Amino acid sequence: MTLERASANSFRLAAIGASRLVRLLGDWARGDGPLHEQLADQMRHLIRTGAMTSGTRLPSERSLGLALNLSRNTVTKSLDLLRGEGLLSSRQGDGTYVTVSRRHSGPVRGDDRLRSFVAEDPVQLDRIDLRSAAMPGLAMVADEVNLLDGSRMRELVASHGYIPSGLPELREAIAAYYRGLGLPTGPEHILVCSGAQQALRLVASSFITPGATVLIEEPSFRGAIESLQALGARLVGVSSGGDGIDVDELAAAVAARKPALIVLQSTVHNPTGSVLDRFHRSRITAIAERSGVPVIDDATLSDTIIDGERRPIPLAAGSDLVLTVGSMSKSFWGGLRLGWVRAQPETIDELIAVKGGEDLGTSVLAQLLAAQLLPQIERARDERFRTLTEGRRLALEQLAEQLPDWTPQVPAGGDPSGSGSPVRVPRRSRSARSASACRSSRVPPSRRRTGSTTTCGSPTPPIRGPSRAASTCSRRCGASSADPRS
Ligand SMILES: Cc1ncc(COP(=O)(O)O)c(C=O)c1O
Repeated sequence: MTLERASANSFRLAAIGASRLVRLLGDWARGDGPLHEQLADQMRHLIRTGAMTSGTRLPSERSLGLALNLSRNTVTKSLDLLRGEGLLSSRQGDGTYVTVSRRHSGPVRGDDRLRSFVAEDPVQLDRIDLRSAAMPGLAMVADEVNLLDGSRMRELVASHGYIPSGLPELREAIAAYYRGLGLPTGPEHILVCSGAQQALRLVASSFITPGATVLIEEPSFRGAIESLQALGARLVGVSSGGDGIDVDELAAAVAARKPALIVLQSTVHNPTGSVLDRFHRSRITAIAERSGVPVIDDATLSDTIIDGERRPIPLAAGSDLVLTVGSMSKSFWGGLRLGWVRAQPETIDELIAVKGGEDLGTSVLAQLLAAQLLPQIERARDERFRTLTEGRRLALEQLAEQLPDWTPQVPAGGDPSGSGSPVRVPRRSRSARSASACRSSRVPPSRRRTGSTTTCGSPTPPIRGPSRAASTCSRRCGASSADPRS
């Protein structure tokens, strides 16, 4: 394993593909001005905040136009504005490059997904926000605070409290969680992190150096994509749909690209809601074993399964090359900021050093609470199962009512809503109509074309009362589809 750390600033992106740029652009067409100006605004923002660094080669105007569903002329006009400001330069036959980075960088570098958590965002007042799949926590989290073990707390407070590897009782509770899933695990296999987001970045930073190729599902969890990009990875997408990652495509990409890392979600995928079956799991671990390429299995949503086997054996059971990322966020509460990595003990030892250098350890108070909660995982699973099943039923019912000609893929788990999984839109409903539907709710545009249908990948909406967002969203999408001017 390579432990060379990559600084986000030291990396010069060689090139950015059209689909990656579309993802970075996020919800760019939400204003009232001409499209080319709005596009230029968002690209300017990406350059000024350092999300696109100097030297980055842009995709061709034609491919960007196709990916954004815009005419080439609109894209050209937009890039002309930025060329005029000196932010881009074009060389005949050699493409367009970012020439200036962070010249007037803003005070905050945040992505659109995280801005969705900022309550004052005025856009939230009239739009449904589909950019994050964050569910409210379970009441048992609050109840457990009152039951915290006071004597253990006093004992811990009497120590220095810096425990980069994690609180021993929590490491053991997480190990027991995996043993409960049929994967032999001890505390030495576990590193506690401040959320799965940190876990993903720590592991990725330890396996890749700038410029390394990483295979990742398309679509995938936006936080993983952004972390990998910040580390300078060259991302290569592998299709992922209702049955999970396309394993044939994965095998071919591993052979052709010789990646440093594979990143996937075997057990409840964000945003598709898929769960890989046993056969595909075993094929993936065979690929890892044969090629020697490590795999990060982000199983953050694994306790939100609705259909099929509720506790599938983790992918890591098939190969020591699989590192599993887990979290308390989806099963109990995101506010705990508690996640982990499960890997071989020697890898964990190295990761502990990286984690220690990063933040000296995760909050001990949150870990103590998590250590008390995790043994009650079965209760949490049951509660999530009930709410998510009902939420999905309502979302699908609303979609069928409002958009009868759409064919949603039914997610096997995750935050409820038929709109949370890819939706197959009939040919005549494509482009402007589906784009308009997406605009009346806030959806990161992660569209890609598959055969005769357009897959509109979107995250699951943050549903507080299960029916509200699902029904309003479906209604708005239905209204947009019915409006010929959309
Ligand atoms: C697939 C996936 N991985 C990781 C995370 C981050 O989780 P955490 O809150 O534990 O950092 C999320 C959050 O939505 C997610 O959906």
